[in-house]
Amino acid sequence: MKKIRKAVFPVAGLGTRFLPATKASPKEMLPIVDKPLIQYAAEEAVAAGINQLIFVTSGSKRAIEDHFDKNQELEDELERRKKMDLLDMVKYIVPKGVSCIYIRQREALGLGHAVLCAKPIVGDEPFAVILADDLIDGKEQSCLSQMVKVYEQQECSVIAVEEVEQSDTDRYGIITPELLYEGVLKMKSIVEKPKPNRAPSTLAVVGRYLLTSSIFDHLERTEKGAGGEIQLTDAIAKLLLEEQVLACQFKGIRYDCGNKLGYLLATINYALQHPNLREAFKEHLVKVCNQHI
Ligand code: G1P
Repeated sequence: MKKIRKAVFPVAGLGTRFLPATKASPKEMLPIVDKPLIQYAAEEAVAAGINQLIFVTSGSKRAIEDHFDKNQELEDELERRKKMDLLDMVKYIVPKGVSCIYIRQREALGLGHAVLCAKPIVGDEPFAVILADDLIDGKEQSCLSQMVKVYEQQECSVIAVEEVEQSDTDRYGIITPELLYEGVLKMKSIVEKPKPNRAPSTLAVVGRYLLTSSIFDHLERTEKGAGGEIQLTDAIAKLLLEEQVLACQFKGIRYDCGNKLGYLLATINYALQHPNLREAFKEHLVKVCNQHI
Protein backbone atom coordinates (compact mmCIF):
# COMPACT_ATOMS: atom_id res chain seq x y z
CA MET A 1 0.00 0.00 0.00
CA LYS A 2 1.26 3.45 -0.88
CA LYS A 3 1.44 5.79 2.10
CA ILE A 4 -0.19 9.22 1.87
CA ARG A 5 2.68 11.71 1.99
CA LYS A 6 1.36 14.66 -0.01
CA ALA A 7 -1.43 17.15 0.58
CA VAL A 8 -2.76 19.67 -1.91
CA PHE A 9 -4.17 22.96 -0.64
CA PRO A 10 -6.16 24.80 -3.32
CA VAL A 11 -5.79 28.41 -2.16
CA ALA A 12 -6.20 30.41 -5.37
CA GLY A 13 -9.84 31.44 -4.77
CA LEU A 14 -10.82 35.08 -4.41
CA GLY A 15 -12.75 34.78 -1.16
CA THR A 16 -15.55 37.08 -2.31
CA ARG A 17 -17.83 35.90 0.51
CA PHE A 18 -15.50 37.64 2.93
CA LEU A 19 -14.96 41.02 1.30
CA PRO A 20 -13.69 43.56 2.19
CA ALA A 21 -11.41 41.56 4.54
CA THR A 22 -10.12 39.51 1.60
CA LYS A 23 -9.53 42.39 -0.80
CA ALA A 24 -5.76 42.47 -0.27
CA SER A 25 -5.11 39.43 1.92
CA PRO A 26 -5.97 35.78 1.31
CA LYS A 27 -9.04 34.32 3.02
CA GLU A 28 -6.82 31.43 4.14
CA MET A 29 -4.84 33.91 6.26
CA LEU A 30 -7.86 34.92 8.34
CA PRO A 31 -7.00 34.02 11.92
CA ILE A 32 -9.07 31.88 14.26
CA VAL A 33 -7.91 33.32 17.58
CA ASP A 34 -4.17 33.54 16.79
CA LYS A 35 -3.53 31.14 13.92
CA PRO A 36 -4.45 31.54 10.25
CA LEU A 37 -6.83 29.01 8.72
CA ILE A 38 -4.13 27.68 6.40
CA GLN A 39 -1.92 26.81 9.36
CA TYR A 40 -4.68 24.74 10.98
CA ALA A 41 -5.01 22.90 7.66
CA ALA A 42 -1.23 22.34 7.35
CA GLU A 43 -1.04 21.08 10.94
CA GLU A 44 -3.89 18.65 10.28
CA ALA A 45 -1.97 17.28 7.29
CA VAL A 46 1.29 16.92 9.20
CA ALA A 47 -0.50 15.20 12.12
CA ALA A 48 -1.86 12.67 9.60
CA GLY A 49 1.69 11.75 8.49
CA ILE A 50 2.01 14.04 5.45
CA ASN A 51 5.40 15.61 4.73
CA GLN A 52 4.87 17.50 1.45
CA LEU A 53 2.51 20.46 1.47
CA ILE A 54 1.55 21.56 -2.03
CA PHE A 55 -0.16 24.93 -2.29
CA VAL A 56 -2.00 25.81 -5.50
CA THR A 57 -1.93 29.58 -5.34
CA SER A 58 -2.56 32.69 -7.39
CA GLY A 59 -0.93 36.10 -7.67
CA SER A 60 -2.68 37.65 -4.68
CA LYS A 61 -1.66 34.91 -2.25
CA ARG A 62 1.97 35.79 -1.47
CA ALA A 63 1.15 36.12 2.23
CA ILE A 64 0.69 32.33 2.39
CA GLU A 65 4.19 31.71 1.06
CA ASP A 66 5.61 34.29 3.47
CA HIS A 67 3.77 32.70 6.38
CA PHE A 68 5.44 29.33 5.84
CA ASP A 69 8.83 30.86 4.98
CA LYS A 70 11.67 31.74 7.33
CA ASN A 71 11.57 35.28 8.72
CA GLN A 72 15.17 35.86 9.80
CA GLU A 73 14.62 39.46 10.93
CA LEU A 74 11.75 38.43 13.23
CA GLU A 75 13.70 35.44 14.58
CA ASP A 76 16.76 37.63 15.36
CA GLU A 77 14.60 40.18 17.13
CA LEU A 78 12.75 37.56 19.23
CA GLU A 79 16.10 36.00 20.19
CA ARG A 80 17.51 39.39 21.19
CA ARG A 81 14.45 39.98 23.38
CA LYS A 82 14.73 36.44 24.84
CA LYS A 83 11.19 35.58 23.73
CA MET A 84 12.05 31.93 23.30
CA ASP A 85 8.47 30.57 23.21
CA LEU A 86 7.55 32.94 20.40
CA LEU A 87 10.83 32.19 18.63
CA ASP A 88 10.09 28.44 18.62
CA MET A 89 6.54 29.13 17.48
CA VAL A 90 7.62 31.07 14.38
CA LYS A 91 10.66 28.92 13.67
CA TYR A 92 8.77 25.64 13.49
CA ILE A 93 5.55 26.67 11.73
CA VAL A 94 6.78 24.15 9.18
CA PRO A 95 8.14 21.26 11.25
CA LYS A 96 11.51 19.66 10.39
CA GLY A 97 11.21 17.12 7.57
CA VAL A 98 8.17 18.82 6.02
CA SER A 99 8.51 20.73 2.74
CA CYS A 100 6.27 23.30 1.06
CA ILE A 101 5.81 23.52 -2.69
CA TYR A 102 3.93 26.28 -4.51
CA ILE A 103 2.25 26.08 -7.91
CA ARG A 104 0.39 28.91 -9.60
CA GLN A 105 -3.10 28.30 -10.91
CA ARG A 106 -3.00 30.79 -13.74
CA GLU A 107 -6.72 30.83 -14.45
CA ALA A 108 -9.64 30.59 -12.01
CA LEU A 109 -11.18 27.50 -13.61
CA GLY A 110 -12.43 25.82 -10.43
CA LEU A 111 -11.47 23.31 -7.75
CA GLY A 112 -11.01 20.41 -10.17
CA HIS A 113 -8.61 22.47 -12.26
CA ALA A 114 -6.70 23.57 -9.14
CA VAL A 115 -6.18 19.93 -8.11
CA LEU A 116 -5.07 19.04 -11.64
CA CYS A 117 -2.40 21.78 -11.43
CA ALA A 118 -0.73 19.66 -8.70
CA LYS A 119 -0.40 16.58 -10.92
CA PRO A 120 3.30 17.12 -11.83
CA ILE A 121 4.21 17.15 -8.13
CA VAL A 122 1.83 14.45 -6.89
CA GLY A 123 2.65 11.97 -9.69
CA ASP A 124 1.20 8.49 -9.21
CA GLU A 125 0.79 8.57 -5.45
CA PRO A 126 -2.43 8.78 -3.46
CA PHE A 127 -2.78 12.25 -1.92
CA ALA A 128 -4.94 14.46 0.26
CA VAL A 129 -6.84 17.59 -0.73
CA ILE A 130 -7.64 20.01 2.08
CA LEU A 131 -9.89 23.05 1.75
CA ALA A 132 -8.65 25.36 4.48
CA ASP A 133 -11.90 27.27 4.90
CA ASP A 134 -13.56 24.11 6.19
CA LEU A 135 -12.05 24.10 9.67
CA ILE A 136 -12.71 20.81 11.46
CA ASP A 137 -12.33 20.36 15.19
CA GLY A 138 -11.82 16.60 15.30
CA LYS A 139 -11.83 16.48 19.13
CA GLU A 140 -9.87 13.24 19.82
CA GLN A 141 -8.45 12.74 16.33
CA SER A 142 -8.29 15.09 13.37
CA CYS A 143 -10.66 14.49 10.46
CA LEU A 144 -7.78 13.68 8.09
CA SER A 145 -6.26 11.14 10.52
CA GLN A 146 -9.65 9.42 10.77
CA MET A 147 -9.76 9.26 6.97
CA VAL A 148 -6.19 7.93 6.69
CA LYS A 149 -7.23 5.07 9.00
CA VAL A 150 -10.05 4.16 6.59
CA TYR A 151 -7.67 4.47 3.63
CA GLU A 152 -5.16 2.13 5.30
CA GLN A 153 -7.87 -0.49 5.84
CA GLN A 154 -9.58 -0.21 2.46
CA GLU A 155 -6.85 1.18 0.16
CA CYS A 156 -9.14 3.39 -1.88
CA SER A 157 -10.22 7.02 -2.13
CA VAL A 158 -11.95 8.36 0.99
CA ILE A 159 -13.95 11.57 1.19
CA ALA A 160 -15.25 13.32 4.31
CA VAL A 161 -19.02 13.84 4.52
CA GLU A 162 -21.54 15.16 7.01
CA GLU A 163 -25.29 15.65 7.22
CA VAL A 164 -26.53 19.10 6.16
CA GLU A 165 -29.95 20.74 6.07
CA GLN A 166 -32.01 19.78 3.02
CA SER A 167 -32.25 23.47 2.12
CA ASP A 168 -28.43 23.69 1.90
CA THR A 169 -27.71 20.87 -0.58
CA ASP A 170 -27.00 23.40 -3.35
CA ARG A 171 -23.88 24.54 -1.49
CA TYR A 172 -22.14 21.14 -1.56
CA GLY A 173 -21.23 17.96 -3.40
CA ILE A 174 -23.96 15.50 -2.34
CA ILE A 175 -23.54 11.72 -2.36
CA THR A 176 -25.74 8.64 -2.69
CA PRO A 177 -24.54 6.44 0.15
CA GLU A 178 -24.66 2.74 0.96
CA LEU A 179 -23.63 1.66 4.45
CA LEU A 180 -20.38 -0.34 4.58
CA TYR A 181 -19.80 -0.22 8.35
CA GLU A 182 -20.38 2.32 11.09
CA GLY A 183 -19.14 5.71 9.96
CA VAL A 184 -18.03 4.46 6.51
CA LEU A 185 -20.24 4.48 3.43
CA LYS A 186 -19.81 3.30 -0.12
CA MET A 187 -20.29 6.17 -2.53
CA LYS A 188 -22.74 5.11 -5.24
CA SER A 189 -22.86 8.51 -6.93
CA ILE A 190 -22.01 12.15 -6.31
CA VAL A 191 -23.41 15.37 -7.74
CA GLU A 192 -22.23 18.98 -7.36
CA LYS A 193 -24.60 21.44 -5.70
CA PRO A 194 -28.00 19.86 -6.49
CA LYS A 195 -31.18 21.82 -5.72
CA PRO A 196 -32.82 20.53 -2.51
CA ASN A 197 -35.62 18.79 -4.44
CA ARG A 198 -33.07 17.00 -6.65
CA ALA A 199 -30.53 15.98 -3.99
CA PRO A 200 -29.96 12.22 -3.65
CA SER A 201 -29.42 12.59 0.13
CA THR A 202 -28.41 15.20 2.67
CA LEU A 203 -24.88 13.84 3.02
CA ALA A 204 -22.53 16.57 1.90
CA VAL A 205 -18.84 16.51 1.04
CA VAL A 206 -16.78 18.76 3.25
CA GLY A 207 -13.29 19.93 2.37
CA ARG A 208 -11.21 16.78 2.97
CA TYR A 209 -10.41 14.24 0.25
CA LEU A 210 -7.98 11.32 0.00
CA LEU A 211 -7.70 10.45 -3.67
CA THR A 212 -5.89 7.88 -5.75
CA SER A 213 -3.88 9.33 -8.62
CA SER A 214 -6.41 7.98 -11.17
CA ILE A 215 -8.40 11.12 -10.36
CA PHE A 216 -6.00 13.04 -12.63
CA ASP A 217 -7.05 11.03 -15.71
CA HIS A 218 -10.65 11.96 -15.01
CA LEU A 219 -9.84 15.60 -14.25
CA GLU A 220 -8.04 15.89 -17.59
CA ARG A 221 -11.27 14.83 -19.32
CA THR A 222 -13.67 16.84 -17.13
CA GLU A 223 -15.57 19.61 -18.87
CA LYS A 224 -16.89 22.72 -17.14
CA GLY A 225 -19.79 21.85 -14.82
CA ALA A 226 -21.74 23.66 -12.08
CA GLY A 227 -20.99 27.39 -12.00
CA GLY A 228 -19.05 27.09 -15.30
CA GLU A 229 -16.07 25.57 -13.39
CA ILE A 230 -14.11 22.31 -13.68
CA GLN A 231 -15.49 20.48 -10.68
CA LEU A 232 -13.59 17.94 -8.59
CA THR A 233 -16.99 16.37 -7.83
CA ASP A 234 -17.54 15.55 -11.54
CA ALA A 235 -14.19 13.75 -11.75
CA ILE A 236 -15.00 11.80 -8.56
CA ALA A 237 -18.34 10.81 -10.14
CA LYS A 238 -16.32 9.19 -12.96
CA LEU A 239 -13.71 7.70 -10.63
CA LEU A 240 -16.33 5.81 -8.60
CA LEU A 241 -17.50 4.00 -11.71
CA GLU A 242 -14.04 2.38 -11.92
CA GLU A 243 -12.79 2.19 -8.34
CA GLN A 244 -14.31 1.99 -4.90
CA VAL A 245 -14.72 5.44 -3.32
CA LEU A 246 -15.71 5.63 0.33
CA ALA A 247 -17.29 8.39 2.38
CA CYS A 248 -16.15 8.87 5.96
CA GLN A 249 -18.60 10.29 8.49
CA PHE A 250 -15.88 11.75 10.67
CA LYS A 251 -16.26 12.52 14.36
CA GLY A 252 -15.91 16.24 14.96
CA ILE A 253 -17.40 19.63 14.24
CA ARG A 254 -16.91 21.45 10.96
CA TYR A 255 -16.96 25.22 10.69
CA ASP A 256 -17.49 26.81 7.29
CA CYS A 257 -15.04 29.66 7.73
CA GLY A 258 -15.60 30.98 4.22
CA ASN A 259 -18.89 32.18 5.64
CA LYS A 260 -19.11 34.97 8.22
CA LEU A 261 -21.34 33.13 10.68
CA GLY A 262 -19.27 29.93 10.46
CA TYR A 263 -16.14 31.97 11.03
CA LEU A 264 -17.57 33.60 14.15
CA LEU A 265 -18.71 30.23 15.54
CA ALA A 266 -15.23 28.79 14.97
CA THR A 267 -13.66 31.74 16.74
CA ILE A 268 -15.92 31.21 19.76
CA ASN A 269 -15.19 27.48 19.83
CA TYR A 270 -11.42 27.84 19.60
CA ALA A 271 -11.30 30.78 22.04
CA LEU A 272 -13.20 28.67 24.58
CA GLN A 273 -10.49 26.00 24.24
CA HIS A 274 -7.53 28.38 24.38
CA PRO A 275 -5.66 27.88 27.66
CA ASN A 276 -4.85 31.58 28.22
CA LEU A 277 -8.14 33.02 27.02
CA ARG A 278 -10.77 30.47 28.02
CA GLU A 279 -11.83 31.79 31.43
CA ALA A 280 -11.89 35.52 30.65
CA PHE A 281 -13.57 34.92 27.32
CA LYS A 282 -16.26 32.69 28.80
CA GLU A 283 -17.02 35.24 31.51
CA HIS A 284 -17.40 38.00 28.95
CA LEU A 285 -19.49 35.85 26.63
CA VAL A 286 -21.95 35.03 29.41
CA LYS A 287 -22.21 38.74 30.27
CA VAL A 288 -22.83 39.73 26.66
CA CYS A 289 -25.41 36.96 26.16
CA ASN A 290 -27.31 38.04 29.27
CA GLN A 291 -27.39 41.63 28.02
CA HIS A 292 -28.82 40.60 24.67
CA ILE A 293 -31.46 38.09 25.76
C1 G1P B 1 -16.37 22.81 -2.79
C2 G1P B 1 -16.77 21.55 -3.55
C3 G1P B 1 -18.03 20.94 -2.95
C4 G1P B 1 -17.81 20.69 -1.46
C5 G1P B 1 -17.41 21.99 -0.76
C6 G1P B 1 -17.04 21.73 0.69
O1 G1P B 1 -17.36 23.80 -3.04
O2 G1P B 1 -16.95 21.86 -4.91
O3 G1P B 1 -18.33 19.73 -3.58
O4 G1P B 1 -19.01 20.17 -0.89
O5 G1P B 1 -16.25 22.57 -1.40
O6 G1P B 1 -16.75 22.92 1.35
P1 G1P B 1 -17.10 25.39 -2.76
O7 G1P B 1 -17.31 25.57 -1.28
O8 G1P B 1 -15.72 25.67 -3.20
O9 G1P B 1 -18.15 26.08 -3.57
